[in-house]
Amino acid sequence: MVYASQRILSGQVLIPGAHFMDHRSATVSAAANIALIKYWGKTSDANGHSSPANLPATGSVSLGMEDLRTTTTLSFAEGASDTFESSLDEAAQQRIVRFLDRLRERFDCRDHFHINTQNNFPTGTGLASSASGFAALTLAFNALLKLDLNETLLSQLARSGSGSAARSIFGGYVEVVLSDDAHAQQIIPAESWPLDIVVAVTNSAAKAIGSTQAMQRTAQTSPYYEQWLSSHSDDMQSAKNAISAKDFDRLAEVSEHNCLKMHATIMTAQPPVLYWLPATLAVMHEVTAMRAAGIPAFYSIDAGAQVKIICEPTATDTLLARLKDLAGVTNLIQTRVGGSPQVHLT
Ligand code: DP6
Repeated sequence: MVYASQRILSGQVLIPGAHFMDHRSATVSAAANIALIKYWGKTSDANGHSSPANLPATGSVSLGMEDLRTTTTLSFAEGASDTFESSLDEAAQQRIVRFLDRLRERFDCRDHFHINTQNNFPTGTGLASSASGFAALTLAFNALLKLDLNETLLSQLARSGSGSAARSIFGGYVEVVLSDDAHAQQIIPAESWPLDIVVAVTNSAAKAIGSTQAMQRTAQTSPYYEQWLSSHSDDMQSAKNAISAKDFDRLAEVSEHNCLKMHATIMTAQPPVLYWLPATLAVMHEVTAMRAAGIPAFYSIDAGAQVKIICEPTATDTLLARLKDLAGVTNLIQTRVGGSPQVHLT
C-alpha cells in the first residue's frame, strides 16, 4: 500500500477525542478488480442464512485495474450521525453506515463521519464498485483513526463489507484464501507480469439485480451450484500455477472456463439471472476468434453486461481496433494490471 503523504506510525494508540489536534480527513483511492476465478456464494448456517461476516464459499483470484478507482474522503462529522456528499442512493448509504457501525463497535470508536465517495467509472454495472468502495472506506477508517492495522486484517474487514473488496486492499495479482475469517493476499505484484486490460462497456445502466441477491438466489435454486463449489479449487490451483509461471494461454483457458461456469450457474437459478446483452456475446465471440488467430487476449465477465479483456500489451491496439465498431459497445476503457491503493492524510 502507498501512503502518499505520511506513513501511519506503528503501534500508535488511539485516544478518543484527540483527533481534532491532528489530521481531519483521510482520502483513499482504491482500484476495482476483475475476478478471473470468481467468488460466487457465501457460507451459510444450518437454516440457510448467510453469515453476518459475509464469508465467501469459494476462494478467488483477481487482477487490480490500475485506472478504475473509487476515491473516498472520510472526515470527522460534528453531529451524531454519518453524513454523505455523493450521489449514493439511500440503500447504498445505509450499507455504508451499517459497515461503519460494525467498525465503530469493533474498534471502540465513538466518532461519526462525513463521507465523500466517487467512482471514475460506471457504478453498479458489474465493474466491481463495491470492491473498490469498501476497500477505500476500510483504508480511510484505518488511516483517519491511526489504527495501523495490518493488510490481512484490513482485507478481512473490507470483505465483511463486500467479498470482492478483500482483494482491492492489494494491487497486482491477488487471491482470497478461505478460512474462518477469509482474507486476500498478493500472488505477484503487477510489475512482475505487465498485462493490459480493456473494458468493453455495453450497458452503463445499473444492473437489475445486484450480486449479493443473485448469489443467494443461485445458491438456493441453481441445480449446478454444488458442482460450481466442488470444481472450484481445481480452477483456483490452475490459475495460481498459470500466474506463477506467467503462462498466458493456461490463464486464459481456466479464466474463461470459470467465468462461463459461474454464468451458467447464475442463468439456471430460478427465476433466472441473465446479465449478458447481445453486445456482451459479440465481444466474447470476437475475443475467441482473436485468440484462435494467435492474438493473446481472453475475456471475463462479472455480475453485469460489461466484458473485461485481458491481453498482452502487444495485442492492445489490435483489440481496441476490433472492438470499437462492434454494435452495442458504447465505450472502451483501457487500463493495465495494477491498482495499489493510495492513502493521503490532510
Ligand atoms: C461476480 O463482492 O459484489 O464480481 O460480498 O455480496 O458484496 P458481496 O458480493 P460482491 O460479489 C462479486 C461477484 C463477482 C465475482 C468476484 O468479484 O469474485
